[in-house]
Amino acid sequence: MQVTYETLLTETANGIRTVTINRPDKLNALNKKVLEELDQAVQAICDEPDVRAAIITGAGPKAFVAGADIAEFTAVPAEGGALLAKMGQDIFSRIENCTKPIVAAVNGYALGGGCELAMACHFRLASETARFGQPEVNLGLIPGYGGTQRLTMLVGRGRALEIMLTGNPVSAAEARVIGLVNHVTAPGELLGTTRKLLLDILQKSPVAVSKVIAAVNACFDRGRDGYAEEIRLFGECFASGDKKEGIAAFLEKRKPDFSKEPAP
Ligand code: COA
Repeated sequence: MQVTYETLLTETANGIRTVTINRPDKLNALNKKVLEELDQAVQAICDEPDVRAAIITGAGPKAFVAGADIAEFTAVPAEGGALLAKMGQDIFSRIENCTKPIVAAVNGYALGGGCELAMACHFRLASETARFGQPEVNLGLIPGYGGTQRLTMLVGRGRALEIMLTGNPVSAAEARVIGLVNHVTAPGELLGTTRKLLLDILQKSPVAVSKVIAAVNACFDRGRDGYAEEIRLFGECFASGDKKEGIAAFLEKRKPDFSKEPAP
């Protein structure tokens, strides 16, 4: 079932839901409404069996998301900052922990909360026109939606510190070199290339796909032993119908007919 949103456009084809943040006149800045609806849209991706993967992108030619809505900050009391950051972090963690692949197609500015949103996705593709950055220092702030942590994990401590301390934008080409994005495409090819990559993933076992995501996420969770988690998740895959089918198909020299949903 497809819900209608005020600030998002959604469409689903071939099991892939595309969520487009749709405030192009404000460069798709994340106001409260966008964050609430994004959270709902992510929940729907996780819950709906017909949706097997998702793309998050921005409306218009200029921006993916140019950050948290700076104008709205003026309405937040001085002591409300931590709560704001916690809310953003919780939503972005739900993207990261979704058992289905969610990929960012970065079509323009991905600044501040926009860069943080892209980093919460499982991986990122960018158009040649994309610009990444964490310019919060210019506002007397630091990234608050997980950026200090995810950027450091993705590009390493030195590069992350330079990006966050200078606030300088990073081009798409540079983002690819430092591992912030996996692929850079011509603007008109961004969504097509992203969909093609996801269709490839959708040929694989959804059970295995979901467990790869969980095991990799465990690597970055200080409260968990990632190796122990890998053993546990491997064990679950080993007992799954998909593993039985995958191995039988290999031995019988045919294509596997996997389940269509990740195991609970
Ligand atoms: N929050 C709220 N509004 C934003 C915004 C944000 N993060 N980013 C852009 N906008 C709005 C602008 O205020 C402007 O609105 P207006 O037409 O009503 O005045 C509109 O989007 C277009 O932006 P504009 O600045 O005119 O475009 P530009 O091409 O000159 O500059 C940027 C583009 C991205 C360089 C510039 O908008 C910018 O620096 N944005 C803020 C980035 C940022 O600091 N993000 C981190 C926030 S924590």
